[in-house]
Amino acid sequence: MSKVSFIGAGFVGSTAAQYLALKNICDEIVLIDLNEGPTKGKALDLNQAGATLGYDTQIKGSSDFEDLKDSQIVVISAGKPRDPGMDRMDLIRINREIVTSCIKQVRKFCLDAIVILVTNPLDVMCYVAYQEAGMPREKIFGMAGVLDTSRFRTFLAWETGVSKGKIEAWVLGGHGNQMVPVLEHTKIDGKPVGELVEKDKLQEIVERTRNGGGEIVELLGKGSAYYAPGASIVEMVEAILTDSKKTLPVSVYLQGEYGYSDLFLGVPAKLGKHGIEEIVELELAADTKKLLDDSVEEVKKGIESLD
Ligand code: LAC
Repeated sequence: MSKVSFIGAGFVGSTAAQYLALKNICDEIVLIDLNEGPTKGKALDLNQAGATLGYDTQIKGSSDFEDLKDSQIVVISAGKPRDPGMDRMDLIRINREIVTSCIKQVRKFCLDAIVILVTNPLDVMCYVAYQEAGMPREKIFGMAGVLDTSRFRTFLAWETGVSKGKIEAWVLGGHGNQMVPVLEHTKIDGKPVGELVEKDKLQEIVERTRNGGGEIVELLGKGSAYYAPGASIVEMVEAILTDSKKTLPVSVYLQGEYGYSDLFLGVPAKLGKHGIEEIVELELAADTKKLLDDSVEEVKKGIESLD
């Protein structure tokens, strides 16, 4: 029996649940949120959509953390999203408390589950959760790089007219304004990106990617993105449930990899049924490494502000 739980049934959690149900790869999905009525309503609605869309996954809505029991994976997206004009780092104080209390519930009811953090500021909240959980780093990590990479690939696809599926890219580092699209490993239909996109345009795309979440926050006026975040969560959940060992950008607790320690940072990692099965060290150009250093500083500042 496979069971995936979502703590936080706002737009991100419920959209991820919807995409996961569509994949037909798990028996049970639980949406947990303190907002009980609407969460039960969403779950009921999602069950009924399965009759038309062809899935039998059981979806339960609950405000009772005991329903976490027997989860293989717990996705935590509970927390406050950004308002227009806010930086992800502005959320530290309030979301830290929320994440800490969610981890306490995970420890109580499903200690063996793999935990995927989504709450912002992502890399700092991963650190908070990791400290609280006392779990091995293989089992607690964050979703951001898949999302940032999907934005970068989308903008490159629009620029070149090539299908998004034929764009290979990595966005590494922290999930903040200093995130690092790795240009030397970016390929458009197998060709180096520099052959197809001129320098200034490429820099514009890098900047738009870095501000990808903020652009959507401004347009929505209330709340933050959820379709691409939901899809990105499911990409990671699928790799774990199907034990695919797919390499994806994941916010992982580093212990010397890429020359950094004692922080969470987006790096390529192989995901399988045990969680992080390997951290992949890409060869990086000197310029990229420098940008990654800047991103590390940004994440460290966030971690230091916890004290
Ligand atoms: C974003 C938020 C969820 O990047 O961090 O859209």
